[in-house]
This record gives sequence, structure tokens and C-alpha cells, in this order.
Amino acid sequence: MTELHITENDIPRLDGKVAIVTGGCAGIGLATTKILTSKGATVIMADLASPSETVENATWVKTDVSSWDSLKATFKAAGRVDIVVANAGILGDPNWLDDKLDETGELMKPSTSVIDVNIVGVAMCIKLGVSYMRKQGSGGSIVLVASGIVYEPGAKVPLYAASKFAVTGMLRSLRQSLINEDITINAVAPGVTSTQIVSSFEAVFAAKNEPMGTPHEAGLAIVYSAVAREKSRIPATGTTTEDAVNKQSGRWNGRMIYTLKGMFTETEEPFLALKNQWVGEKAFQEMKTQELLFHGPAFPARV
Ligand SMILES: NC(=O)c1ccc[n+]([C@@H]2O[C@H](COP(=O)([O-])OP(=O)(O)OC[C@H]3O[C@@H](n4cnc5c(N)ncnc54)[C@H](O)[C@@H]3O)[C@@H](O)[C@H]2O)c1
Repeated sequence: MTELHITENDIPRLDGKVAIVTGGCAGIGLATTKILTSKGATVIMADLASPSETVENATWVKTDVSSWDSLKATFKAAGRVDIVVANAGILGDPNWLDDKLDETGELMKPSTSVIDVNIVGVAMCIKLGVSYMRKQGSGGSIVLVASGIVYEPGAKVPLYAASKFAVTGMLRSLRQSLINEDITINAVAPGVTSTQIVSSFEAVFAAKNEPMGTPHEAGLAIVYSAVAREKSRIPATGTTTEDAVNKQSGRWNGRMIYTLKGMFTETEEPFLALKNQWVGEKAFQEMKTQELLFHGPAFPARV
């Protein structure tokens, strides 16, 4: 377990930096917007809904992250981008498995909008962010918003859970390659946090005197992820721990911070360090062999 103590003092000044925060007009995105602007950054709040309050140095650009054209226009309006926070997300229908019938009694196609917003939207944000950062040539930071559901998958929202595993997959897939271009990619996995998305649970939590996390602490973890430095790198897969790259210090990269009621825990390092235990020593050794081949010259990725 890698427990962190994160405060606003850990965030340096960000004057001159431009950040795009999807879903930046409410909840965790709004809290992130406020922390970024308080440190001097200019923020584009890329949100479908208008902001619930005015934030100095933050501009709302109406955006639907599930639409390529909409997202592309938002990046164009920003002009440049140093920090991308792919935060916009929806929970979807908590009764997704219940049958809904059309007028003829046929089972209706269920909504898959969670996939469009939470997976396609995040993938397109990464695509645009990397493209802009490469053209600018000065690196950048991408922060994805996953969820504590990747540690405790919820039974009622399978597509939401799937979407956050997909976000985790994007983090794990890209953490090795982007860093070579000084572009970091990290994620934050908020535990239950008091925002509109979980408003229907507020009463249940209140009845048990169980506090929810605050949007501010999730926002703090997000901004920290974009700017922090680390003493040593984590391996990309867990099978390459001896690799020299792992001993290098540098910008915070490839990590995921779980936020829960004021606690911050980095979970990718222990996840990778224990891989031989959860996959088994023999399989772990075999994976190492395959890993080297998979990421060798035949692999068509830009590394
Ligand atoms: N609140 C929690 O308990 C919790 C826990 C884990 C993860 N998360 C994640 O945190 C992120 C932020 O959620 P939140 O809790 O702040 O919820 P929220 O509903 O308060 O805010 C989400 C924002 O995203 C915007 N949005 C929704 N669809 C959009 C779209 N297609 N294009 C652009 N903007 C869109 C909404 O208008 C809203 O402003 C989400 O990815 C969510 O899955 C939240």
C-alpha cells in the first residue's frame, strides 16, 4: 500500500498552463477546475451542462464528450492544452438488467450510453490530447477518472463497472509509451464522493452516519497526478521490475490514486509488485518471456 498525504501545498503554480476538464462544470470536475485556476491555470470546462457557478479563469465550452466533432471543436477553442482531465462520466441505468418492452412486447435494446461517454469519450480525449501535446512539443499531462468500482465492482451497474475497467486498461496500456514524449498518463479512482451522480445514495449513507468523500479531495488527487514527481517509476506491466527505467525518478506516471474519505492511496505499484502472487510464480516467469517478445520490435506500437 502506498499511502499519500496530498495537500494544496503539493501543487505548484500553474501560471500559463491550459487545462481541459471534461465534466468540469459540476462535482469532481468543478472541484478540479477550482484547484487548477487557484494555482493560475486557465481552464476549459468541457461539459454538456452549464456551470453551476462562475469560476474566474475558467470558461465553459459546451461539449459532448461522446461526439468526436464536439470534442474536437472544444480542443480547437482551447488552442493549446497542457493538462487534459478526462473526468466526464455517467452512471447509467441502475436497473439495467430489468426488462423494458416496446409496444409490441419485444425486449427493447438497452442503453449503452455509458460506454459512449465513459469509454469512447475518454479514448477520444486521450487521442486529441496526445495529438495537441505532440504538436506543441512541450509534453503534457493526462489524468483519467476511473472509480473505486474497479476494486469493488458494483452488482447493479455492469456497464459502468466495465467502463471504469476500460479506463484502467487505457492507463495501463499507455503508461509505457507516452512518457517517452514527456506526456504522463495517470488515473484517479474516487471512492463514493458526494456529487450529483450518487445523490440517490445520500440518504442511505446519512442514515448510517457514513460520510462520503468530497469532490475537493478527488480534485486534489487529480491535479496532484498531473503535476507530481516520483522517486522511481513503476514498471509498465509488473514483469519488468529489473528494467533500468524503474529506478529513474521523474514525473508521476502510470499511477492510480484511490481517494476515500480524505485518504489517498496509490494502487498500481502494489498491484504490479504482487503480480507473481496473484498470477502464480510459474505463470509469472512465463509472462515475462512473452512480455519481452510482445513489446519487442515486432510490436507495432510507438515505443
Ligand atoms: N461521485 C462519485 O461517487 C464517483 C465515484 C467514482 C468515480 N466517479 C467519477 O467521477 C467523474 C465525475 O463524476 P461526478 O461524481 O463529479 O458526477 P457529476 O454528475 O456531479 O458530474 C459529471 C459532469 O459530467 C458532465 N457530463 C455528463 N455527460 C457528459 C458528456 N457526454 N459530455 C460532457 N460532459 C458530460 C455532467 O454534465 C456533469 O457536469 C465521473 O467519471 C464518475 O464516474 C464519481
